[in-house]
Amino acid sequence: MNLYNNVERIFNELKEIGKSTSDSLQVKDLTQFDQFHYHGTDAIDISIKKLGINSKTRILDVGSGIGGPARYIADKTGAKITAIELQADQNDLASNLTKKCGLSNQVSHICGDILNYNFQNQRFDIVVSWLTLYHISDHQALLKKLYNLLNPNGLFFTEDITSRIILNKHDLGEIEKEIFGMHLPLYDQYISNIEKFGFKVIFAEDMSESWSAFTKQRIAQYNTDKDRNIRVHNKEIVESLSSFYNFVGKYFSNGKLGGIRIMAKKI
Ligand SMILES: C[S@@+](CC[C@H](N)C(=O)[O-])C[C@H]1O[C@@H](n2cnc3c(N)ncnc32)[C@H](O)[C@@H]1O
Repeated sequence: MNLYNNVERIFNELKEIGKSTSDSLQVKDLTQFDQFHYHGTDAIDISIKKLGINSKTRILDVGSGIGGPARYIADKTGAKITAIELQADQNDLASNLTKKCGLSNQVSHICGDILNYNFQNQRFDIVVSWLTLYHISDHQALLKKLYNLLNPNGLFFTEDITSRIILNKHDLGEIEKEIFGMHLPLYDQYISNIEKFGFKVIFAEDMSESWSAFTKQRIAQYNTDKDRNIRVHNKEIVESLSSFYNFVGKYFSNGKLGGIRIMAKKI
């Protein structure tokens, strides 16, 4: 999937702002480039507020990518976060960046699959996940696992992709091939699935219009900055990301894909 190729491109951006690979970093040096979801750290600020995260909170971040959301939360709130990421190259980069930010005592990076990683007796106050769960086909196993990983009254918060209509076989095949979209329920189904697993839904918001606008603007900006992006990265990286942005933008603007922000409590 093109978003996950060349993840080390972040070092090209850091070089552009005068940082060498050996320099220590601040979280704010990275936030323009390490958030692989929509609306960057504004989305994370909303979660921090809604979840009431503070320095005592113990959090699990599922599908942590190169660690952007986890580092931002740790830095802003003092919370301790376990960040699990399936892909080794992303996870290695995440650990490296977290170390450079001096946050290794707050953010623990694990390379693993949420469905089969053994957390032993570890339990969390909050499970968060941005733009990850649609990659996982078996939501029965996923929701059961997340429920069991939470402390009593623990909170689950996710932003995830949904379908806005019943998708045909061609669309589903294309979505699987291009963005590894494996689980795309309708908005209402998404909510009822979560309720079935013993969660009480506290809040849900349809993000479809907002993400449609965001992905459209992202394409326009990337096109405007094309020459700059080729200079900072290279043609291959720019074409690969451009193709990813265009595909996602097409499916949001044609009304086939949408999104949900949801918060639920373990009862
Ligand atoms: C779009 S990225 C989002 C990264 C991060 N949440 C963010 O917002 O910056 C989704 C990530 O989920 C990871 N992922 C997918 N399936 C997973 C699984 N079963 N267990 C752990 N991580 C998974 C992918 O490798 C990818 O890095």
